Amino acid sequence: MRSVVLVFVVVLGLAITIVQAQVPTPEPLQTPSTSTQVPSETTTEGTTTTGLYPDELKLAEECDEELCKLPNCRCSSTDIPGGLLPRDTPQFVTITFDDAVNVINTVTYRNLLNGRKNSNGCPVGATFYVSHEYTNYRLVNELYNQGYEIALHSISHRTPQDYWATATYNDIKQEIADQRVQISHFANIPFESVKGVRLPFLQLSGNVSFQVMADYGLEYDCSWPTSSYTDPGLWPYSLDYASVQDCMIPPCPTASIPKTWVLPMVSWIDLGGFPCAMADSCHFTPDLEDEEGWYKFIVSNFERHYLGNRAPFGFYIHEWYLSSNPAVQAAFVRFMDLVSNLSDAFMVNSSEVLDWVKNPIPVNEYKAKSCRTWSSTSCAFQPDCGPLVGPNGMSYWMGACNVCPTVYPWTGNPFGQ
Ligand SMILES: *[C@@H]1O[C@H](CO)[C@@H](O)[C@H](O)[C@H]1NC(C)=O
Ligand SMILES: *[C@@H]1O[C@H](CO)[C@@H](O)[C@H](O)[C@H]1NC(C)=O
Ligand SMILES: *[C@@H]1O[C@H](CO)[C@@H](O)[C@H](O)[C@H]1NC(C)=O
Ligand SMILES: [Zn+2]
Repeated sequence: MRSVVLVFVVVLGLAITIVQAQVPTPEPLQTPSTSTQVPSETTTEGTTTTGLYPDELKLAEECDEELCKLPNCRCSSTDIPGGLLPRDTPQFVTITFDDAVNVINTVTYRNLLNGRKNSNGCPVGATFYVSHEYTNYRLVNELYNQGYEIALHSISHRTPQDYWATATYNDIKQEIADQRVQISHFANIPFESVKGVRLPFLQLSGNVSFQVMADYGLEYDCSWPTSSYTDPGLWPYSLDYASVQDCMIPPCPTASIPKTWVLPMVSWIDLGGFPCAMADSCHFTPDLEDEEGWYKFIVSNFERHYLGNRAPFGFYIHEWYLSSNPAVQAAFVRFMDLVSNLSDAFMVNSSEVLDWVKNPIPVNEYKAKSCRTWSSTSCAFQPDCGPLVGPNGMSYWMGACNVCPTVYPWTGNPFGQ
């Protein structure tokens, strides 16, 4: 058993190295398929329901704190990493936006985020869970080069929601693993900088998406809401052992899938006392024109974290909700002003939260660190690509930092060749 596991790890490590070594080339793609395929016998379309090594998928056991230790393993719990006291713990705020990045919503992103700083003088982070359809990759490049994190939200974002609940390994490989190669290619951003996943509709697919993540070197998922662990909030954890988290949108993973992490979406509580995973999915909200009401609503949810166990506070929203509700947007800006004023709260990328969880340090030490940097990448100006015919017969225009594809990229053909 032990040697089997060892071989598995070595092979997987090799596979990841190959993928990474081949990908970050901004040149035209001569060999499209090699970089998207991890060596395996399971890539035959539509036939695969399990991972590369189905035998390895074993039911996760109850977490053992003695065996599961940072930085590589963490039991699911509301305990603060590193055994820190709340007052010594940085309060992370993770602002995220979902779906296609286009010329309209990018204006909002610029206005809200660019130039904004945390109290430690570092620029604020935010994470974009990008879906491919209608995305302008030149703008993805811009967001990346402003220091925001780019993460995955599938190529097709297809309906019905149930598609994702019953998706096979190969479905998710084509939607998520291939999207990582696609986005780093067309936006010309480093392959390794893309680490996170949010499934469409927050619809998990049991073990499957986590298996794909483990096999293709993706680090974390941020699609799993909790309403049972809001006060105190659930901290991020790894999937080596069984999760205690409530499964609000089944099926949730129950296998042991080392190397993958869950960033739980700790629900907000709306004015009726009901949980909501995303700020724009709350039902009983203040009036949409009531800025003061919205500010108080946001702050009261924030305080459950800040005055509690300081589990990361998620502000998960879609841009349209802010741009169509100016009072909500104004309240959001006031909230960000408030966080910028706090000496122990920080708006950061999702992956930065995970890095801290793996190596927790007290807030005083955290504040003294230099700001995170990223390797900047270019995007040569070229007109939008198109019209490009999509698989549905529609034609699309697509901004890209790379050679134009010949057809509209889609699942099964992420480079549009
Ligand atoms: C996940 O894997 C475990 C262990 O093999 C299995 O018992 C469980 O049924 C799987 N979940 C789904 C939804 O297939
Ligand atoms: C943040 O601090 C500034 C300067 O002290 C103050 O003017 C402003 O009202 C504060 N904003 C919030 C939302 O607390
Ligand atoms: C955000 O994430 C990117 C990609 O991981 C990283 O390069 C960048 O430095 C981060 N920015 C901040 C502000 O943390
Ligand atoms: Zn979405």
